Amino acid sequence: MAADSLGPDWARHGAGWAANDAVFDRIFAPVTDAILTAADLTGAVLDIGCGTGTLLERASDLGASAVGVDISADMIDAAARRVPQANAVVADAQTADLRALAAGEGFDRIVSRFGVMFFPDPVAAFTNIRRSTAPGASMTFMCWQDGHRNPIFTLGTSTLIKALDQKPARPEPGSPGPVAFADPDYLRGVLTDAGWSNTRIDDFSFRADYSSADSDGVEERLAVILATSTGQSVEEAVRAKLGESGWSDLLDGVRESLRAERADGILTHEGHCWLVSTRAGT
Ligand SMILES: C[S@@+](CC[C@H](N)C(=O)[O-])C[C@H]1O[C@@H](n2cnc3c(N)ncnc32)[C@H](O)[C@@H]1O
Repeated sequence: MAADSLGPDWARHGAGWAANDAVFDRIFAPVTDAILTAADLTGAVLDIGCGTGTLLERASDLGASAVGVDISADMIDAAARRVPQANAVVADAQTADLRALAAGEGFDRIVSRFGVMFFPDPVAAFTNIRRSTAPGASMTFMCWQDGHRNPIFTLGTSTLIKALDQKPARPEPGSPGPVAFADPDYLRGVLTDAGWSNTRIDDFSFRADYSSADSDGVEERLAVILATSTGQSVEEAVRAKLGESGWSDLLDGVRESLRAERADGILTHEGHCWLVSTRAGT
């Protein structure tokens, strides 16, 4: 099940993501493009859970005035370095005064790439986000479909977690985490209750390609696994229990399992997401 079923603690684990943002940007390139196409970025843009600033950079390049919020200081530091012309702020999107970050009437566009699934109270969070918007504003985000449909949560990770005495629990549907909005009916209800309307939830499928001119992608996939909270938790547990050589042997096992998954010499996997477009009600 989900790699992060141990529960991502982003304030703590943001550094792991930030250190590997080039790989995340590579594998999520089709996702980024789909968000940009659907969002029609213009005016004042707010990116929720902006991470290291991928969408902020693209929004700024398009001439938008870009603000990003993220709960992780490591992510925001990286975003501020990458997109100095944007305003990147450490803030909890569920509770922070987001309206105060917008000039004029509020934000015209809200966007997010996988940054809105971690709220303890999603209705409160999406209500708070809506209150930061200008009249006629829209929101476009990508979130994951069911973990069973998404190898990103299991490829290689399943080999890694075999080393744990106790396997991570599967998250309850709707609980905060990467697959919180796997059920589109639940997601639609959350958005409606938070005052969003005209909601579209479209299937978006893509292929995550870890390879590059110099690599078959195996090391990149391993880096992504180790950047997740599951990877980091297993590393801590295995190093404590089996020492350096035990950890090294385990990594070799993961590499072997990943090599076996290559097709045409490169490592890819499919991804199944929801592309969500909605409008702020009055
Ligand atoms: C899966 S990462 C995606 C990061 C970035 N959007 C990207 O695509 O590279 C999820 C992000 O959401 C942020 N996040 C989680 N809960 C948040 C909250 N309550 N408020 C703001 N950001 C949050 C995390 O710190 C993390 O950077």
